[in-house]
Amino acid sequence: MRLPPAGTIEIAPSILSADFGKLAGEIAEVAAAGARIVHLDVMDGHFVPNLTIGPPVIASLRRHSDLVFDSHLMISEPGRYVEAFAKAGVDNITFHIEVVDDPAGMVSRIRDLGCTAGVTLNPETPVKTVEKVAPLCDMVLVMTVHPGFGGQKFMPDAARKIAEVRKIVGPGIRIEVDGGIDPETTPIVVSYGADTLVAGNAIFGRPDRQAAIDAIRKACQ
Ligand code: DX5
Ligand code: ZN
Repeated sequence: MRLPPAGTIEIAPSILSADFGKLAGEIAEVAAAGARIVHLDVMDGHFVPNLTIGPPVIASLRRHSDLVFDSHLMISEPGRYVEAFAKAGVDNITFHIEVVDDPAGMVSRIRDLGCTAGVTLNPETPVKTVEKVAPLCDMVLVMTVHPGFGGQKFMPDAARKIAEVRKIVGPGIRIEVDGGIDPETTPIVVSYGADTLVAGNAIFGRPDRQAAIDAIRKACQ
């Protein structure tokens, strides 16, 4: 599966708040509820103070799901691991601008591996840092919490950067937003120009995933 081209609003449930003991089943549930993308949060305990999953778990999940695998690499040395993630079957690879010296080179490497490429910036990172690379990407991810944990409070000042990014990239590139997205914050980020909404706690933290996804979708209108 490929990242859908820009022009539609997509909800990307983040597995961080799912039951890791039955991840394949959790992903199947959000697929049945209409999600086309699943957001896979990869953490190395170094770039962020938390650890999650890596290529072996993703390769296993790949055998159980045909959703778009959107990997968010919260790791200090993404360049060391992009091949492994591509081989594991991810479709999109998003790296953090804060830890990459040659972002344009990283985008080409990711594309050469057959994946789409995303660049992301932390809440305190200025938009200027992605100005050059953003137009080369398939997606720009604007963090609206400090990465590392699910269920944190949405940062409105960070969300305003979405509008700045939209000015730079125009309508043809996806802008994803990640952190504290729920039916209350969705209208704000959509009005700034976000079209790919990551939600962890607001979907996997609720027993009825269909209702949770429907509520976010309704809040987009
Ligand atoms: C945070 C992760 C997010 C996280 C979002 O470091 O990148 O994807 O799962 O969780 P919520 O939606 O609960 O803020
Ligand atoms: Zn994420």
